[in-house]
Amino acid sequence: MLRGLPEIVALLAFLTSVAQCAGIPTSNVHAPGTHVALQRRPSPARNTSEWSAWALAQRLSLEAKYAVGANSKHDRRASGTNLISNQNTDSSYFGSIAVGTPPTSYNVILDTGSADLWLASEDARDSLPEDTLTFDPTRSSSYAPLNASFSIAYGSGSAAGVLGRDTVQFAGFEVTDQVFGVVADVSPTLLDTPVSGLLGLAFGGIARSGAQPLWQALLAAGALDAPLLGVHLTRFVNASDARAVAPGGALALGALNASLYAGAVDYQPVPGGARGYWTLEMAGVSVQGSPLDLASDAVALAAIDTGTTLVGGPADVVAQLYAAIPGSAPGTGNYAGYWTYPCATEVHVALRFGASNVSWPVAPADFRLLQADASTCVGAFFALSARSTAGGGSPSWIVGDTFLKNVYTAFRAAPPAVGFAQLSAAALAMNGVSGAPPTPTLNAPEVTASGLASGADRLRVEWFPMLFAGAMAGLRLSGWWWLW
Ligand SMILES: *[C@@H]1O[C@H](CO)[C@@H](O)[C@H](O)[C@H]1NC(C)=O
Ligand SMILES: *[C@@H]1O[C@H](CO)[C@@H](O)[C@H](O)[C@H]1NC(C)=O
Ligand SMILES: *[C@@H]1O[C@H](CO)[C@@H](O)[C@H](O)[C@H]1NC(C)=O
Ligand SMILES: *[C@@H]1O[C@H](CO)[C@@H](O)[C@H](O)[C@H]1NC(C)=O
Ligand SMILES: *[C@@H]1O[C@H](CO)[C@@H](O)[C@H](O)[C@H]1NC(C)=O
Repeated sequence: MLRGLPEIVALLAFLTSVAQCAGIPTSNVHAPGTHVALQRRPSPARNTSEWSAWALAQRLSLEAKYAVGANSKHDRRASGTNLISNQNTDSSYFGSIAVGTPPTSYNVILDTGSADLWLASEDARDSLPEDTLTFDPTRSSSYAPLNASFSIAYGSGSAAGVLGRDTVQFAGFEVTDQVFGVVADVSPTLLDTPVSGLLGLAFGGIARSGAQPLWQALLAAGALDAPLLGVHLTRFVNASDARAVAPGGALALGALNASLYAGAVDYQPVPGGARGYWTLEMAGVSVQGSPLDLASDAVALAAIDTGTTLVGGPADVVAQLYAAIPGSAPGTGNYAGYWTYPCATEVHVALRFGASNVSWPVAPADFRLLQADASTCVGAFFALSARSTAGGGSPSWIVGDTFLKNVYTAFRAAPPAVGFAQLSAAALAMNGVSGAPPTPTLNAPEVTASGLASGADRLRVEWFPMLFAGAMAGLRLSGWWWLW
């Protein structure tokens, strides 16, 4: 989103121009239906058949929860879907969760570049847009505080508070005892209405909370049909009438949605396996059909990150990329790390990962981040600071939504891999088509698992994020990325 910019950031002016040039509404439009404070349903008298259905559902749910009976966990696998909202013309993508008893729904950034769940609490009010819905632990009868603090630093801001646990519903699943951050202190621009927090979808090895990520709790409990997350993101960047919040695609949990992609999924292994980021080896980058020279002793890792708007890479390779575009120039001042290029040029970049021989193209419309003046555009590929790519096994590329809008993405936990497939005609037909953004629905979850199922002792000392500790001014990127 170019989301959540610390005020100190020099990029502010730049981002303001993003908003203007991309036709992003500057007001915090509160789209109807995206921010629903749930009320407890009035309890109508149930008739006999309704009571029996209710009783059955309760039993199944409890049996699944405690892994007993005919519906022990292995018989209660399922898959589900969470509809996504596209915020500020492809700047960020959020979904919804429901937390507590009674369940209340919150919009959260869906972030495959980090692994913690957190929600802002009322204590963070001063740093939040006026109408942000906050989590109030005292209103949930199932909330349990933990005697532990929580803090996380992203590329563009931080969030801190305490840890607690409660029941969390997502994509038709429910996890009891999910540990998450109740955030009292948040960088002022980290959250943009109607978003209340962030759902990390990477592996628990990078969870600052030490908690098992929600999706991994479901996986560990045997609740998922398959160890998969499938993501489809819509494109509005070149739609003339884009609204602040538009339909954003869908996240499938436990399965892929076969009607959203065509052909085979090109899976490539996550180097190093299932421990931190969803990464792939960056094997090839081409511009206007010509490959760049990625010569490097070490394998270049790319984090596949739904929580980051753009694509960041090593400065030397990004410079090479723009060198292949006549008339391009490095940005200065607020534009440092970015490049401008003539708007008249259609830039065709394609990325290749792992051992694949498929090069996945980025639409020129996605490459064209914004128009700076009548003939000058700014590209969506930017240079990460040297420090963020300084080895230690950390990714040197962040492949965000600029790329991910162009493919259907399969995040597979076992064996750990990320796969890409072509979007189906049905998926492509959703680009730029305004409509009501999804409304959170609170159906009784089909399958329940415990967040502590395989990780009762998950609170532990973390090693990985320390590599990234320390805040630098920059774009709000997920994970611990830096930008200059
Ligand atoms: C119970 O209520 C449901 C929903 O209102 C209705 O469809 C069903 O016919 C009712 N069953 C009986 C036995 O009254
Ligand atoms: C909370 O944690 C602190 C620091 O680890 C410890 O000193 C204190 O005894 C703990 N309190 C409770 C109630 O567990
Ligand atoms: C898969 O995507 C199609 C097209 O958007 C949608 O109609 C369908 O409901 C989705 N399936 C599931 C299980 O979500
Ligand atoms: C991709 O590479 C594999 C193995 O090297 C080869 O068999 C296949 O024909 C290639 N496919 C294309 C489209 O080049
Ligand atoms: C938006 O970009 C896509 C991909 O480049 C293109 O197919 C589509 O025609 C563009 N739409 C508009 C309105 O420019």
